Formats: sequence, C-alpha cells, structure tokens
Amino acid sequence: MIAAIGAVSSNGMIGLDGWLPWDIPEELAFFEKTVAGAALVIGRLTYESMDVVPPDSFIVTSQAGLVLKPGCKAVATVEQALLAATATGKDVFVIGGASLYAAAWPYCQRFFFTLIEQAFHGDSRFPGNIPLDRWVITSEVCETYLERISGEQVVCRFMQSLQENPRSVPVLDCKKSPV
Ligand SMILES: NC(=O)c1ccc[n+]([C@@H]2O[C@H](COP(=O)([O-])OP(=O)(O)OC[C@H]3O[C@@H](n4cnc5c(N)ncnc54)[C@H](OP(=O)(O)O)[C@@H]3O)[C@@H](O)[C@H]2O)c1
Repeated sequence: MIAAIGAVSSNGMIGLDGWLPWDIPEELAFFEKTVAGAALVIGRLTYESMDVVPPDSFIVTSQAGLVLKPGCKAVATVEQALLAATATGKDVFVIGGASLYAAAWPYCQRFFFTLIEQAFHGDSRFPGNIPLDRWVITSEVCETYLERISGEQVVCRFMQSLQENPRSVPVLDCKKSPV
C-alpha cells in the first residue's frame, strides 16, 4: 500500500523554517507510530529537517552525489522513489513536504491527514491540487492537546481518507537516478 501522511493547519500551513509551525508532541508521536516499519519517500528539505531517518528511506532530489545517512537512498523522481520503496515489500509512506505531496498523491491509496484546527504562521503550504474532498473518509478521531509554543489547547482531527482508484506508478528508466 502507498499512503501519504501529513498535518495541516486550518490556514493550510505545513512548515516553518524547515520544521513544523507548531509544537504538539502527541501529533508527532502519532506520525512516528503510523510510519514505524514502513519504507519512506521524503523530499530533500524534509529529510534534512529530520534527526533520525529510518532505513529504507528514499530521498527525492535533483542533486547527484548527495551524501545521505545510512539506509537512505537518493532518487531523481517521485515515481522512482515510489517504485524503489514498494520493492522493499514494506508499506510505503510519502511523508512530505509540499512538493512530494503534490507529485505523489495520484499514486496514494490512503492519506493520513491531520487537520490542526488553528491558524499558524508558516512558510510551506499544503498543495492546493489534491482533491481530498473527493476521497472517502474512513476514520476520523478528534483529540485536544496543548500546543507548546502558544500555550493554547488545539484540536487535532486525525483523518484517514481512501482514494478508490489510485494511479499505478509507471515503471521508469532507473538509470536516471542520481546515485
Ligand atoms: N506538517 C507536515 O506534516 C509536514 C510533513 C513534511 C514536511 N513538513 C515541512 O515542510 C517543509 C519542507 O517542505 P518543502 O515542500 O519545502 O520541501 P520538500 O518537499 O521536503 O523538499 C523539496 C526538495 O525535494 C526535491 N524534489 C521535490 N520534488 C522533486 C522532483 N519532482 N524531482 C526531483 N527532486 C524533487 C528537491 O530537492 P533538491 O533541491 O535537492 O533537488 C526539492 O528542493 C519543512 O518545513 C518541513 O518541516 C511538514
């Protein structure tokens, strides 16, 4: 299964200064628990924001020769990353950022979409081209947590959405990989 996972504020923000616009440890814990043991497809900027990157992570970048952490592999396109991640036999999660969601959503059967029901200042916005309103919501859970920067309580709406007929990932010429 190919899935995507991301958390988005009520004003559409996903990132600030290379990290998240909010500090909600429970939301981060949900992310870590959900993707545990999966193969990950990651944009280069998001990869660089992560202290720990698990094995079988595929980093999408145009930079040939990028030196990565052990267990990570550079790939030149989102499609190549999805094929390589699928070949591990594990579940596959696209974990962002914005450019990865925008390119990978047609191939995703599920989207683990968390709506943070508060506006946050940010510099990275969830792409507007993903028709999640046409996907089927299969699960929805609301929790209220303390957001550590503002000191305010925020509602996190954890949703899972299903895309009925995701596009198959085209088999491409893997010689285009930068590694
Ligand atoms: N809220 C959330 O759930 C969530 C999740 C993930 C990330 N984030 C946040 O989002 C922000 C980063 O997102 P972002 O959109 O700015 O960056 P990103 O998607 O993580 O990375 C962008 C980079 O990925 C590579 N890339 C993307 N598409 C490509 C393609 N089609 N072909 C080749 N390379 C491609 C390029 O790397 P090169 O420049 O090396 O070519 C590009 O500069 C951070 O603030 C992060 O914390 C939030």
